Amino acid sequence: MNILILGSGGREHAFALKLAESKKVNQLFVAPGNAGTDKVATNVAISPTDFEAVKQTVLENNIQMVVVGPEAPLVKGVHDFFLADSDLKNIPVIGPKKDGALLEGSKEYSKKFMQKHGVPTAKYKSFTEDNLEEGYTFLATLKAPYVLKADGLAAGKGVLILNSLEEAKKELKEMVSNKKFGEASTTVVIEEFLKGIELSVFVLTDGKNYKILPSAKDYKRIGEGDTGLNTGGMGAISPVPFADEAFLDKVEKLVVKPTIAGLQKEGIDYRGFIFIGLMNDNGNPSVVEYNVRMGDPETEVVLPRIKSDLLELFEGVAHKNLDTKSFSVTSKIATTVMLVSGGYPESYEKNKEITGLEKVDESIVFHAGTILKDAKVVTAGGRVMAVTSFGDSIDEALQKSYNSIDKIHFDKINYRKDIGFDVN
Ligand code: AMP
Ligand code: GLY
Repeated sequence: MNILILGSGGREHAFALKLAESKKVNQLFVAPGNAGTDKVATNVAISPTDFEAVKQTVLENNIQMVVVGPEAPLVKGVHDFFLADSDLKNIPVIGPKKDGALLEGSKEYSKKFMQKHGVPTAKYKSFTEDNLEEGYTFLATLKAPYVLKADGLAAGKGVLILNSLEEAKKELKEMVSNKKFGEASTTVVIEEFLKGIELSVFVLTDGKNYKILPSAKDYKRIGEGDTGLNTGGMGAISPVPFADEAFLDKVEKLVVKPTIAGLQKEGIDYRGFIFIGLMNDNGNPSVVEYNVRMGDPETEVVLPRIKSDLLELFEGVAHKNLDTKSFSVTSKIATTVMLVSGGYPESYEKNKEITGLEKVDESIVFHAGTILKDAKVVTAGGRVMAVTSFGDSIDEALQKSYNSIDKIHFDKINYRKDIGFDVN
C-alpha cells in the first residue's frame, strides 16, 4: 500500500517511521516533510492545505491512504474534499471531516458539545462584540484567574489566562472588538479556571469503536520549572505516572464513551484521532480541550510505545472494524526532549547546520524543523528535533535523551533540562 502523510513536524516523522515498520506498506510519501522524513519516505513539496496539489500527488503516486498530521487541512475540509471527488472518494483519509474537526476548530462548538453530551468540563459562556457588556458581567461572577479563549484556530496562541478582572475585561475587548486574533476571536469563550495537573489522552476511533492510546504529558513553556512563554511543546513523557488505572477508567467512562456516543448522536462519522486535553483535579478528569489530531511532541512518545501495526489500526479506522484489530503497548517509559533554535518561541535564526546525528545510538531522533540543503541537515524552524528514549523509569529514559543530545550540535541550540520535573 502507498501512503501519503500530510505535515512536516516531529509528529509526521514519527508516523512515517512507525508506518515504515508495517509489512503492508509499500511506498511512503510525506508532504511537505523534513530532512528526517526524507530518509524513510519521499518528500513532496506541496502544502497540506492545497487540496488540488494533494489530489495530484495522490493520483500520480497511486496513493491508497492519506494520514493527516496537523489540524489545518482537517478544519479546511480535506476529508470532505476527498469524499466529494469521484477520483478520490474511495481513498481513506485518517482524520475527521469538517463536522468532526469543529471540535478543535471552534472552542464554542466543543464546549457546547461537551455540555450537551455530559462530558465534564469547566463552566463557560461565549461572547461577541454585541454582548460585550454581558461578558464583563460574567467575568465579575468568576474568580481569578480568568480564562479567555478565542473561538477559532489561533496557532496555539488563542488562550489567555489573566490574574486581574481589569486585565481580563481589557483583553476581552481587545479580542472581540479589536480582533486581537483576527477572525478567530470574533467570538470568545470565557470559562472557569480549572485546578489540577494537566495530561493528555489520545483516542483512535472509527466513529463507533475506539482504542485508547498511551497517555502523555507535554511541557509547553520555554523555561525550566514551567516558566516563560508558551511553545508548541518542549518535551513529553508517556505514560503519565499519576494517570493510574483508576483515573484512566474514569476517563474512559466519563469522557471517552460520552464523546464517541455524542459524535454518533450528532451524526458525525468521525475517523481519526481525538486528542483529549485533561485536567486531573484530585483524581477527577475535566476536559480542557479537544484536538482532532495527535499532539506534537506527544506523538514522539506515544507512537514508539505502540507495539501493534499502525497500518492495521488505520485500516480498522477506514473500514469501521477497529474492534477486530489487536492493540498492545509496551510497559517501557518513553521521554522526549525537544531541541529548539535559540530565541524560539520569539524570533530565531534558521539555516544552522546540524551535526552529530550519526553518533546517536540509544535514542530515536524525530526531525521537526529541519531541511536538507546541499546534502546537509540544517535548521528550518523553531522546534528542530525531538530526541526520544525508552527506560524503566523516567530518569533512565531522560538520561539517555540527554546523553544523545550531548552528541548533537547546532548554533544556538536550546532545550529544557527538566522534562518530567513535576512528576518524578
Ligand atoms: P487550550 O488551547 O484550550 O488547550 O488552552 C491552552 C492551555 O491553557 C491549556 O493547555 C491549559 O494549560 C490552559 N487552560 C485552558 N483552559 C483552562 C482552564 N479552564 N483552566 C485552567 N487552565 C486552562
Ligand atoms: N503539544 C500540544 C499540541 O500538539 O497541541
